[in-house]
Amino acid sequence: MSEYLNEEIRKLKESKNAIILAHYYQVPEVQDAADFVGDSFELSRRAKENDADLIVFCGVRFMAESAKILSPNKKVLLPVKEAGCPMADMAAAQQIIDMKKEHPNAKVVTYVNSSVEAKAVSDVCCTSSNAIRIVKNIDADEIIFAPDKNLGSYIQEHVPEKNIILWNGHCCVHDRISAEDVFRAKEQCSTAMVLVHPECRKEVRDLANYIGSTSGIINYARESDHDKFLIVTEEGVLHKLKKENPKKEFFSIRGMTCKNMKKTSLDNVYWSLDENYYEINIDEEIREKAAAALENMLILGSD
Ligand code: 13P
Ligand code: SF4
Repeated sequence: MSEYLNEEIRKLKESKNAIILAHYYQVPEVQDAADFVGDSFELSRRAKENDADLIVFCGVRFMAESAKILSPNKKVLLPVKEAGCPMADMAAAQQIIDMKKEHPNAKVVTYVNSSVEAKAVSDVCCTSSNAIRIVKNIDADEIIFAPDKNLGSYIQEHVPEKNIILWNGHCCVHDRISAEDVFRAKEQCSTAMVLVHPECRKEVRDLANYIGSTSGIINYARESDHDKFLIVTEEGVLHKLKKENPKKEFFSIRGMTCKNMKKTSLDNVYWSLDENYYEINIDEEIREKAAAALENMLILGSD
């Protein structure tokens, strides 16, 4: 069945000059059908730098919106309309405007896991892979960082010379993991290297041998001489890790599943391509403002 679907998807892609972008948290068959799989920073770069007329974005809404913001002349489709990111709804644009009034000298750095409106009132966006570099490079000593308090506190540890004003947002998948959960998982793999996403709490990050984005974790495991890894992020990354490193062993923390990322099936990808469903449309005035924050990220966040 999935062979048939993959063939139909391939034909539709060709006839519509489309590409499929997928995040590492997507289900394996969607990752395998994609032209490019990556972390949120790589995906936003890919969305901008390609010759396709149509992008099918397999991820959550803020990712597809970022693709549309950066490539307004392309049609961008999110196969499942309801695939959202709860953290992206934790920082309203008006709250950011109010916070700026309280801290007139601060610049606003907003995690890409945010609404278009929040991006539009921000100075620059960031992802987990470039947040530290961006906060270091931005021309301000005081930073309002929204919406992830855990990523914000991780940045603060690495950039102590700046004052980071934290937001009270979090990712429900990463924030619910405790140090105790990691100790319990380590009982099955006591010698494993612990690789942690920075959306986790400090007590969990403190147990890490490596902290980084989904791509950072995948690169670390590929290059490491160790053969056992406990992966403390959404379980979807295990697909790529196991495929790339058949001789290494990977362990995960039970329950680290993002139900929004798992809403997209291969059927949804097919229907999306066939029926142009669900098209992302953004008001042009807001898009231009959000684009400035995302473009600043591509400039300040590149190596
Ligand atoms: P990455 O930027 O590491 O891909 O993470 C995105 C995300 O949503 C993490 O929960
Ligand atoms: Fe949002 Fe968390 Fe899911 Fe990432 S894992 S998309 S931050 S809910």
